[in-house]
Amino acid sequence: MYQYDAIDKAFLDDRVSEFRTQVQRRLAGEMTEDQFKPLRLMNGLYLQLHAYMLRVAVPYGTLSSAKMRRLAHVARTYDKGYGHFTTRTNMQFHWIKLREAPDAIASLAEDGLHSMQTSGNCIRNTTADPRAGATAEEVDDPRVWAEAIRQWSTLHPEFTYLPRKFKIAITAAAKDRTAAKTHDIGLSLRRGRDGSLGFEVMVGGGLGRTPYIGQTIREHLPVGRLLSYLEAILRVYNRHGRRDNNNKARIKILVAQLGTEEFARQVEAEFALIDGSKVDLPDEELARIRGFFAPPAFATLPAVSKVFEEAKARDPALARFARQNTHAHKVRGYVIVDVSLKAPGETPGDISAEQMDVMADLADRYSFGEIRVTHEQNLVLPHVKLDDLPAVHAALAAVGLATPNINLISDIIACPGLDYCSLANARAIPIAQDIARKFADPDKAEQIGELKIKISGCINACGHHHVGHIGILGVDKKGEEFYQLTLGGSGAEDAEVGKILGPALPAGRVAEAVDQLVEVYLRERKDGERFLDTYRRAGLEPFKEAVYVAAY
Ligand code: HEM
Ligand code: SF4
Repeated sequence: MYQYDAIDKAFLDDRVSEFRTQVQRRLAGEMTEDQFKPLRLMNGLYLQLHAYMLRVAVPYGTLSSAKMRRLAHVARTYDKGYGHFTTRTNMQFHWIKLREAPDAIASLAEDGLHSMQTSGNCIRNTTADPRAGATAEEVDDPRVWAEAIRQWSTLHPEFTYLPRKFKIAITAAAKDRTAAKTHDIGLSLRRGRDGSLGFEVMVGGGLGRTPYIGQTIREHLPVGRLLSYLEAILRVYNRHGRRDNNNKARIKILVAQLGTEEFARQVEAEFALIDGSKVDLPDEELARIRGFFAPPAFATLPAVSKVFEEAKARDPALARFARQNTHAHKVRGYVIVDVSLKAPGETPGDISAEQMDVMADLADRYSFGEIRVTHEQNLVLPHVKLDDLPAVHAALAAVGLATPNINLISDIIACPGLDYCSLANARAIPIAQDIARKFADPDKAEQIGELKIKISGCINACGHHHVGHIGILGVDKKGEEFYQLTLGGSGAEDAEVGKILGPALPAGRVAEAVDQLVEVYLRERKDGERFLDTYRRAGLEPFKEAVYVAAY
């Protein structure tokens, strides 16, 4: 894992003392809220419905056990004993007191955590495959490139005041676990026909009120030119992106207005002007970064673990957990373990300080001190020995972290909605809880198979509803909370924006409607089809009929 040096540390400390003075001036009434707002946002401090919220960056979703323990400490000391992992793989604390915010930030800095660039019109945290360094599917380790992007983009003076916020995702596997095509720039690492490593570069993806799927502007960018190319894209955007209307300021609008070809032409023209030797990382620097991501000291193990096989035969809960929450590892005798933060009835993405500490201990004992955060608001222990799986499962189960529902109907993404967010039209969390309770029977959930439900409390789409297999959007109808359902969205490699099913439904009808949609799927599906496949084959009509005609 990348280690910050003394210069990074001094930089973070300076930033903390600067922010401390700003907060003191605000508390003393020397600054108005309007004057203070841009300063607090530069440090990830938002004002929400009930309290301040602090958003902490988790670069490319990678946490060490020490960082996780630090988050637990902050949750306990400065919040209400829990935190919330978001779809941008960051952590949010929802109940921070302004006078304690500088202490919270100082505490985070002790383990190299910070909240810079988690807000504002700058380049935000890069999303990367949570299975990086563990899956055999990848052609290279995307964290190397994500770290290069982090260093290049952090406080880059040219890109500090972009027209709007800017998000980059990077995947190195054919199966996309980063929602790359919904990002401003999506990067997909591939090997070319000649064996060379290159990026497919996609631009202009984004959700929010006008959803777009990213379009490819370069099929195979040589990896060494990555930073120059990103710089060219950002320059075109910085120059021509709209600054007169916040709703039209994202790069997706520029790409749509210019057309993908013209946008690509302008990027290539800018790229040709950039002196790569001044921007791209020299080979030695790349090698230095790569050194931090060297594989840990894996043991030589047999492919089958006797300990695990015997435990699995005895314990159906372990068997189910292994089926649903573990994935092949590139090293024999190891597995990747997904830890669900979606226990039925809980808030998706929430984690208590106690659970954070348990995750840190498990990482230390069983996963070389490493933890990942997924954009689906779950955690990952990337390198667990099959031999250790029974012990890991038991320890997770003891603190409510062994829900075997990864990719299933109750593995729901939901934004904070009206429970916390000042922009919300409707609550999102209780809808997720209703659905999770309705499908709490794990046999039924397994029978239904992969089904991604994503819920947003308003059109800003923080809960990715546009790309849910079933998307749920909170809308306001004359002061009442209603929900519009969409079907057929996907945020993966086959990305697509979902289609509206019909008129919005009252809160009390949503879980029932999901049940009706599932019944249609179970009736219509042909062998091996996922919900999404059946929808794509059968179309919207049978689903629409079940929810609207049958009900009334
Ligand atoms: C509660 C405070 C929050 C506020 C005020 C807020 C505000 C916004 C706004 C205004 C947008 C639309 C931006 C645009 O399209 O240009 C947006 C988009 C987004 N936000 Fe949030 N958000 C909040 C919390 C969250 C949380 C908790 C998450 C993660 C769970 C999140 C993740 C995202 C994502 C993924 C998008 C849409 C994707 C895109 O960038 O196109 N936000 N947010
Ligand atoms: S989608 Fe809307 S309600 Fe949900 S967090 Fe984003 S801004 Fe708030």
